[in-house]
Amino acid sequence: MQVNSFILEMQLSVPDFYSQIQPQLTRVEEKMRIQAENYHPDLKNALEIILSSGGKRIRATLTLLCGKMLGAAAEQSVTLASAIELLHTATLVHDDLIDGSLLRRGMPTLNSQWSPGATVLTGDFLFARAAKLAAETNNVDVMRIFAETLGIIVNGEIAQLFSKRYLVDRDNYFSRIYAKTASLFETACKSAAILSNASLEIQENLGSYGYNIGLAFQIVDDILDFNGEQITLGKPVGSDLRQGLLTLPVLIFLDRYPEDSNVRSLMSHGILDDLSQPSQFIHDISRSEVLDMAHQEAEKFVDMAISSLSDFIESKEKSALVELAKYITARNY
Ligand code: IPE
Ligand code: IPE
Ligand code: MG
Ligand code: MG
Repeated sequence: MQVNSFILEMQLSVPDFYSQIQPQLTRVEEKMRIQAENYHPDLKNALEIILSSGGKRIRATLTLLCGKMLGAAAEQSVTLASAIELLHTATLVHDDLIDGSLLRRGMPTLNSQWSPGATVLTGDFLFARAAKLAAETNNVDVMRIFAETLGIIVNGEIAQLFSKRYLVDRDNYFSRIYAKTASLFETACKSAAILSNASLEIQENLGSYGYNIGLAFQIVDDILDFNGEQITLGKPVGSDLRQGLLTLPVLIFLDRYPEDSNVRSLMSHGILDDLSQPSQFIHDISRSEVLDMAHQEAEKFVDMAISSLSDFIESKEKSALVELAKYITARNY
């Protein structure tokens, strides 16, 4: 009852953690929007559409909250948060092309309207502008971690592409979701600590916070692909398994239902045969207890993230980070 009303509140209102950094977040928005000024009108339109169609701005919020908690210079923090969020935006443009996804943030994706070439180039443009923003922090360590993270994300996406349809294990799953998602959450937090000239210990603690909520975030995304609503998520559901991508709910299902016909076929061939009825397999997974079990695993990462904050003195920003961590598993989009 309490949980349901919490979720309902999430659906109806903007979570409170944004309020600590709302003015800075507005500046992030402006900074991202001007990145295509004086460039080709189609690049400008593409950026305008993708930014105005929504998005939670979670990564920018993390950078701003961590920076504010540690006393980072306000303008540098805004620049770094813009770089991080724009990097995320670029990865979405390429990810949707790779996944053949037609809907993002409730709007048609670029790849649904443009050629693959134009879509790749737009993603490249956003990566380039994100890198330029990172450079504007004038901090070489920030630039280094930013570039390293981009390499890790691309490595994760290519590993995922080549593992599609293959039987994978948990180690493969967790290293993949670290690379494609949690690495950027980790960097969003750790780079704010670097920018604030914080000690190595503080950098590590905030990095660990970001790492753990990042893993939880992707697990929840993978659960929502089974039980979310397209209208709320603004992106297609049921697409991971249809594309042959085995995520945590499927891996738990394999362990628990070895006699299931789809499971037997997958286990014996080591590869996901063309599912004659993918909807049936998705339905069977969705109505079993495995989504709850995966959710519990995500909650453990949230708890670990909150523990990583224990050395920090109480502040509004710290409370907001705790609240943000809890939101990761309570969200429905
Ligand atoms: C989507 O990220 C990509 C994943 C890593 C799962 P978000 O769910 O943060 O996307 P937006 O920015 O809110 O649209
Ligand atoms: C995307 O993961 C991760 C990156 C963008 C690097 P997903 O493929 O699960 O994200 P969605 O579900 O399309 O948002
Ligand atoms: Mg995708
Ligand atoms: Mg997904």
